Amino acid sequence: MNFKKLLASAMTVAMLAGCSSGGGAASGSASAAAGDVKTYNVGVAIYQFNDNFMTLYRNEIEAYFKTLETDTVKYNVQIVDGKNDMAEQSNQVDSFITQGMDVIILNLVQTSSADAIIDKVVGAGIPCVLINREPLGDNGDESYAGILDNPTVCYVGADARQSGTYQGEIVAELPDKGDINGDGKVSYLMIEGDPENPDAQYRTQYSIKALEDAGITVEKIDDQIGNWDQKKGQEICSTALAQYGDAIEVVFCNNDAMALGAYAAITDAGRTVGTDIYLLGVDALDECVEMVNNGQMTGTVLNDAVGQSHKAVDVAVQLLNGEAIENYYWVDYVKVTKK
Ligand code: GAL
Repeated sequence: MNFKKLLASAMTVAMLAGCSSGGGAASGSASAAAGDVKTYNVGVAIYQFNDNFMTLYRNEIEAYFKTLETDTVKYNVQIVDGKNDMAEQSNQVDSFITQGMDVIILNLVQTSSADAIIDKVVGAGIPCVLINREPLGDNGDESYAGILDNPTVCYVGADARQSGTYQGEIVAELPDKGDINGDGKVSYLMIEGDPENPDAQYRTQYSIKALEDAGITVEKIDDQIGNWDQKKGQEICSTALAQYGDAIEVVFCNNDAMALGAYAAITDAGRTVGTDIYLLGVDALDECVEMVNNGQMTGTVLNDAVGQSHKAVDVAVQLLNGEAIENYYWVDYVKVTKK
């Protein structure tokens, strides 16, 4: 048992002692009411409801908690919309603390604010599962002190390096390896998510690295920030196609929402995916998987909202039950190409 786990056990005993003395239904603490039904209060703070992928994710959190309920255990799940505003989310976390949530699942608006938020959650004795937006440690890796030093804080996510690599591999595996015009290099447009977010940074970097690792020469035509947003994806792609035309052979989008926008721009510009341009996304939204299968997108990568949400909930329940947890939990991405 490592230090974190030892500490976890000690803190858990303290937490459970706190819970059992709660009793009052409105106290916010898990309460054992008549008939021995225990209700746990769960706060879920999502960075923004207006996000296709995080909508799937949060709906699945809610649905999965329901499936775990029994005659004696209930979960009172409150999900709030941070509206992509860190100040708003910070207030929401304060309110969770005041309400005495038994556990918090936290999708940060800004990972740069992780310390401040985690400090107050830990200070209030509430365990916390970070999801989707990973605060990196000083070395830019999985050495974040807010997780390593706190026994009741962990991160559940997917390693975005893998998703970027898969995007690049999908292009490298095409018959022309992405070089449509045969000039010996793959000329691409990159449409990035929120640049503060490791998912955006890694996908941008590793998609291109995978091409280079396959011995392919690449040329960046343009790289713009679309903040995960469909409309911005469309605007960026439309402007770039107007400016650079046929020079763009591959459009890499850090997510599917922006790829949907890019697809509209590609069609408007009279270009045809699979014939004179390639289009890649990440998330594997249902409509994008359909587009991959009918050739309107070259490929996408499954960002497993079900797997990640279930893992986050399972770990939250472990924390509620006073079990020791790991620091990091990873859910694999899966490459999606035409069936
Ligand atoms: C990514 C996902 C994006 C967006 C983002 C929000 O993992 O691919 O579509 O939801 O998370 O942080």
